[in-house]
Amino acid sequence: MQRRTFLAASGASALLAASGISWAQNTARPLRVLPMTDLIGEIEGRIPLSLNQANHDFGTGTASATFGINHSYLGPVLRAKQGQTLPFDVANKIGDTSTIHWHGLHIPGDVDGGPHQEIEDGAVWSPDVPVVQRASMNWFHSHMHGKTAQQTYNGLAGVMLIEDDGSLDADLPQTYGVDDFVLVLQDKTFDADGRMSYVLSGEVFEDGYEGDTLVINGAIAPASQTVPSGLVRLRILNACNARFLELSMDTGPITVIASDGGFLPSPVEAKSILMSPGERYEVLVDMRTAETNALNVDLNGGGGFFGNLFGGGQTTTALSFTTSGEAGFDGAMPTRLANLAPPNPAEATVTRSFELQMDVSADLAALALAWDNFCGDAGAMAINGQPMKMDRINERVRKGDTELWRVSVDDQLHPFHVHGCSFRILSQNGATPPAYAQGWKDMVHVEDGWSEILVRFDYDAPEETPYMYHCHILEHEDCGMMGQFTVT
Ligand code: C2O
Ligand code: CU
Ligand code: CU
Repeated sequence: MQRRTFLAASGASALLAASGISWAQNTARPLRVLPMTDLIGEIEGRIPLSLNQANHDFGTGTASATFGINHSYLGPVLRAKQGQTLPFDVANKIGDTSTIHWHGLHIPGDVDGGPHQEIEDGAVWSPDVPVVQRASMNWFHSHMHGKTAQQTYNGLAGVMLIEDDGSLDADLPQTYGVDDFVLVLQDKTFDADGRMSYVLSGEVFEDGYEGDTLVINGAIAPASQTVPSGLVRLRILNACNARFLELSMDTGPITVIASDGGFLPSPVEAKSILMSPGERYEVLVDMRTAETNALNVDLNGGGGFFGNLFGGGQTTTALSFTTSGEAGFDGAMPTRLANLAPPNPAEATVTRSFELQMDVSADLAALALAWDNFCGDAGAMAINGQPMKMDRINERVRKGDTELWRVSVDDQLHPFHVHGCSFRILSQNGATPPAYAQGWKDMVHVEDGWSEILVRFDYDAPEETPYMYHCHILEHEDCGMMGQFTVT
């Protein structure tokens, strides 16, 4: 653990020295609200999603070359309801092959959008995506093998909110942009001219790409937002390539109501929550009597050299709230949210073990030079000794079986993700997970000791379009820390 931690720290200081500036602002600007495409109701024709090249100003005053989905950076917030089928037309115009994966969706492999469903530049991919699962916050992003990190960093990502009868009836704030906000948190590096940059090196492959500037919904933090007096709901996605973020409130605990795959049984209060790349949490902020509060983000969540040395790392105010004084959502803090029995490990009939491996003695620096933004099939990292290979099925799962997956690492902290399901965490880093991570999840942290999940797959994923399991540090995934499995 020591050596990597030290490398991570020297990498970060080199980065700071190289750019010389963090573009974090002194004064907050109004929160940028991502445009919503509301699909609930009748859907006429197909739903166009256009992956395009664009220019986007993150707030530095200079436009950066980006990718966007129907927009200049990131995609729309798609809002859909359980029971719908979403007929997408995903048109690729980025000048390179891409894919769009629906992260968190319980869907068959042939519409999952993984690395086998490449969309050539100029082509259109038309999956009919069934929405069968409960209310939850999901997302979609590039899964182009070897280029996931670069394409997602450049902007090929968006949020999909799923509602169901229960969530639409729930006594919770749900007026988008008023008392219900989507926050996509990312870290970026900007050069001296204010252009977004992404440069690979051996260290970047090792730690994953870590920017020094926090960006919310494509705009540099901090942001501020005026809200009515009442409860305010935040649906938060960590869409960083590699950073674990530690979130807390300026005043009082952070109140979590939902995790990746849906509502918790009841709200959970925590001093702070640790979010890995890929994770989602929903939070309620109580503005019934408070006039101000703020969401704080520590870019060095999960410890690391800086975090330990300076006790808490780089905590910054990400988003501050002020009440307008107008009456808003007048409900009380909920006490019950969902029925969720504790996971029962006795249901597992199959056990599998996975070790995420950094140390396969590849020359990462040479790879970074040679491959530029592409790590691909290089096989620099692995799971159970096998780097991801497009034509190798690593595991075969029987549909409907409940399985126990045990995950460990050879070094450092990694976020493990599984396609096609939500699972329950039995243990994380050898211990009981925090209460806010005990509901439906598709991400688990793995560092010391075993992280164990109880998982069941209910949809088909054949050989041609298998599901993936992988580290969600996108550079690790691109470097081969990924495996493929079928469900039949
Ligand atoms: Cu968020 Cu395999 O991905
Ligand atoms: Cu996924
Ligand atoms: Cu990793």
